[in-house]
Amino acid sequence: MNACIRAVVRGAIYYKKEIYGIRYGYDGMIKGNIFAMSSHSVSNIVQKGGTILKSARSMEFQTKEGRKKAYEQLQNYGIEGLIAIGGEGTFTGAKIFYEEYGIPTVGAPGTIDNDLYGTDLTIGFDTAVNTALEAIDKIRDTADSHDRIFFVEVMGRDSGYIAIESGIGGGAEIVLVPETSTSIQDVVDTLQQGWSRSKTSSIVVVAEGDEEGNAFEIAQKVKAKIPDKDIKVTTLGHIQRGGNPSARDRILGSRMGINAVKGLLEGKKNVMTGIVNGEIVFTDFQDAIYKEKPLNSELIEMVKILSL
Ligand code: F6P
Repeated sequence: MNACIRAVVRGAIYYKKEIYGIRYGYDGMIKGNIFAMSSHSVSNIVQKGGTILKSARSMEFQTKEGRKKAYEQLQNYGIEGLIAIGGEGTFTGAKIFYEEYGIPTVGAPGTIDNDLYGTDLTIGFDTAVNTALEAIDKIRDTADSHDRIFFVEVMGRDSGYIAIESGIGGGAEIVLVPETSTSIQDVVDTLQQGWSRSKTSSIVVVAEGDEEGNAFEIAQKVKAKIPDKDIKVTTLGHIQRGGNPSARDRILGSRMGINAVKGLLEGKKNVMTGIVNGEIVFTDFQDAIYKEKPLNSELIEMVKILSL
């Protein structure tokens, strides 16, 4: 996100516009936590995880009174347009705000879950996948040395993108995602087929939102069917949401930031900037929020083939 913030600030200055930062998102907008930014304000941040502007969920912005206060704050600073980095919640807020007050917003997709329609990749996803992958590589050493089955839980409340990509990259035998139905018996059968082909250890990557439960719950259900096997569980958690961003994420964030500025200056509003097939595109918030971005079925199929 910092690479994107940097690109927005420097892009705005390049196009001779004044640019302000708002701390803590909509909450900061309501409270007037707003400050003028210069090219120097974003020095030395391109390599940092998180966001220098901080982040918050604002309940108050979900009320009419809250949005009125936010609008008044923008008026005080003469702010005529917004660039918002976030996901569905952020864009829903921006859409309502435009309908009520006519302040145009261009969004940049920032979520590690990669589940937004209108872009092949979201900011943070690549870094999260690489973090998960590094962990899986390390876990594999123990799995292999001790002939164990490891259930590794990755983030993805409603989305299996991190699971499927880290699973394929990490050579997982099985990947369980919210988008497809999970059968515990199928998991057991696949593991047993592996042993019959002389596999001695296995990695099962579980997206946290799988309908059979979290990795601990699924591991317990599997253990009940194969009690003699040594099964361990690791939950990766929030380490996936931090750390130095990958090269891909920095470039993605930079492209999206610059194009969000250009889009706003061209008069675009209520749209999210994204990259589809390598090209910059703009998608209506309505579609970005509500349209499904299905998991690539080719990737799901690949897990089965590669785990032979
Ligand atoms: O929405 C993105 C996400 O990374 C989910 O995959 C995860 O469940 C959630 O955020 C965690 O959010 P929080 O730290 O706010 O609980």
